[in-house]
Amino acid sequence: MALLEVRGAVKRFGGLLAVNDVSLDVEEGEIRGIIGPNGAGKTTLFNVISGALPLTAGTVMFRGETISGRKPSHIARAGLVRTFQRNAMFPKATVLENVMLCRHTQIDENILKAVFGIDRAEEERNLARSREIIAFLGLDGFADEQAQNLSHGHQRVLGIANALATEPKLIMLDEPVAGMNPAETDMVTDHIRRLRDEWGITVILVEHDMRTVMGICEKVTVINFGEKLMEGTPEEVTHNPAVIEAYLGSEEISL
Ligand SMILES: Nc1ncnc2c1ncn2[C@@H]1O[C@H](COP(=O)(O)OP(=O)(O)O)[C@@H](O)[C@H]1O
Ligand SMILES: [Mg+2]
Repeated sequence: MALLEVRGAVKRFGGLLAVNDVSLDVEEGEIRGIIGPNGAGKTTLFNVISGALPLTAGTVMFRGETISGRKPSHIARAGLVRTFQRNAMFPKATVLENVMLCRHTQIDENILKAVFGIDRAEEERNLARSREIIAFLGLDGFADEQAQNLSHGHQRVLGIANALATEPKLIMLDEPVAGMNPAETDMVTDHIRRLRDEWGITVILVEHDMRTVMGICEKVTVINFGEKLMEGTPEEVTHNPAVIEAYLGSEEISL
């Protein structure tokens, strides 16, 4: 049994089939790349897997349990979270507060305790774990900075920290290095690899930057016009004529 099993996923927006009969298996411990031209349906696929949008048809199973039709908060508690293509965080809160807040918003049975400070020992554990997540991602020097004052690259990394705050088994990253310079890209690529190698977290990432995909993904799924075009190693995918055809005239990617 794969960690994530997507079967016949369909998402329709009016007359548009944004995701058209996509099936996908992701094994525990994989770093899976999802690539495809702009508008292919990659973000929509993330939205239907994470529960942000309801499926039109199909099912999603995670750890052997059907999660399609569940609320994103339920899915996050089951261990599956996604980050957003653009920054999603609490801009006026500090880096540390962001991670703390994300722990509480997901673990809702603990909200009252947290707000009223009933369980101090648990708060201490939350604080320690939040600091650990921040340090893992190299943000420890910025723990007390307001999120809105961070560089673009660090804001994106904070988005990953906020997702990690929910202690996922599977994290879905939507264009994690978009808009980053090469040094920032290398830093984030390294974080993603360590997430899997050191913390055992399975990763699915949507990415335009083929250097990043080639560098860290064992397997790549290509989406085109909402459909799965092919799946294979980065080498197989970049040499596939149908994939090259799909990207012809596209300036967003160089194969
Ligand atoms: N909420 C929505 N309502 C209507 N159409 C949408 C919505 N979200 C995405 N789309 C459309 O679905 C298609 C796939 O979009 P998207 O999943 O964002 O592609 P990608 O992430 O691969 O660039 C596009 O044609 C887009 O305009
Ligand atoms: Mg997208």
